[in-house]
Amino acid sequence: MTRSTLLSLVGLVLVSLASSQTVDPSLQDLANRNADFAARLYRSVSSRTDDNVFLCPFTLATGLSALLGATSGSTQDQLLRGLSLNGLDPQSLPELVQSLRNLVLQGSLSMNLMQGMAVFPAQSLKVSPSYLEQVQTNFGGNSLSVDYTVPQEATDTINRWVQDNTGDQIQELVTSLDPQTQLLLATAASYQIRFSPSFNASLTQDERFYVDKYHVAIVPMMFQADKFFLAYDRALKAGVLKLPMNDGAAMLVVLPDEGIDITAVEEEVNGEKIRAWIRQLKKTKLEVQLPRFLLERSYTLRDALRILNITQVFQDDADIINIGETTGLKLTQVYHKSVMTVDESTDDITAGGGVNAFSTLPPRLTINRPFLFVIYQQTSSSVLFMGRVTDPTKK
Ligand SMILES: *[C@@H]1O[C@H](CO)[C@@H](O)[C@H](O)[C@H]1NC(C)=O
Ligand SMILES: *[C@@H]1O[C@H](CO)[C@@H](O)[C@H](O)[C@H]1NC(C)=O
Repeated sequence: MTRSTLLSLVGLVLVSLASSQTVDPSLQDLANRNADFAARLYRSVSSRTDDNVFLCPFTLATGLSALLGATSGSTQDQLLRGLSLNGLDPQSLPELVQSLRNLVLQGSLSMNLMQGMAVFPAQSLKVSPSYLEQVQTNFGGNSLSVDYTVPQEATDTINRWVQDNTGDQIQELVTSLDPQTQLLLATAASYQIRFSPSFNASLTQDERFYVDKYHVAIVPMMFQADKFFLAYDRALKAGVLKLPMNDGAAMLVVLPDEGIDITAVEEEVNGEKIRAWIRQLKKTKLEVQLPRFLLERSYTLRDALRILNITQVFQDDADIINIGETTGLKLTQVYHKSVMTVDESTDDITAGGGVNAFSTLPPRLTINRPFLFVIYQQTSSSVLFMGRVTDPTKK
């Protein structure tokens, strides 16, 4: 073999290695836009509460994108802008969303993450068959007609749907419904965290968590000493720790320095900020302490979406064309619920490191005050979840 063919073979191998890591530019663009939407939604929801926050923007973006195909005119334009999808062709979006979903929800992530979206039109409305097909095929969702004039039956139908789509991890999404309801959008997600390497349960011990100036909670604090990816955001005065999982996802834990208010950090979060944090991560030896926690959060999002300028779908003169033959059909509410448990659970029987013998004692990062987190799929940097833990003893 000549030297030049050998070199070109090496070149080929390098090219194929590189391309296995890159994502199609149009899918990367959609993932980035979804991350922008995720951060804006997070800011909108978190600015109105001091409690824990937990959202699955990935599923919500899918659900709202599925409404694009039902809308037209200025209602559709506004929805596109609200989802950070302005400039994209609404006709080609369903296939793009489907491709991104296929890229993200594969392998063990599809086992750990159970999620779904559904539209629930009133029984009297006629849904166009092509729209029904689009919801199922491109968005992996459901469209189920509901008789809202029989409230108990309507509630049961929606709650059964959420049980089926979250492996029974969520039992109840709605408690009471308005008999006048025309159309609801429901999105739900349940996630099983599997850190890799996992925390070793025999090293977990009760420690203090400083909820605010006046409240201390005693929480089971997990421990791990290993090499971690870490960054520090100087402008925001916050540390960023990456905790990888066994399913291709990872959690970024964003911990403001002591004395820095978490809301000051939250106000600056956007899609580009999240990407910058990921780019700046550097490997370092570290001891990490993270509280165990369980989040279960339920939202009606009409008001939060209004802050993102998504208003027209909720108005009497909404251009909702593909559901119903009547004019003046509007979306009544968007329901969103997610659950997640963060603990030492592992699928790997050999896992559970913990105490590595480092020659010098590494620094320790103790997550013992309010923090935010972003869970993302690593190849596409798709934001799956965003949340805030102010008190790990609360859901
Ligand atoms: C909502 O629309 C107004 C007016 O068009 C604009 O000033 C504002 O920045 C928009 N808000 C968001 C969150 O996009
Ligand atoms: C967890 O830590 C304990 C105590 O240091 C150790 O004995 C045990 O082997 C560890 N478990 C695993 C699975 O590494």
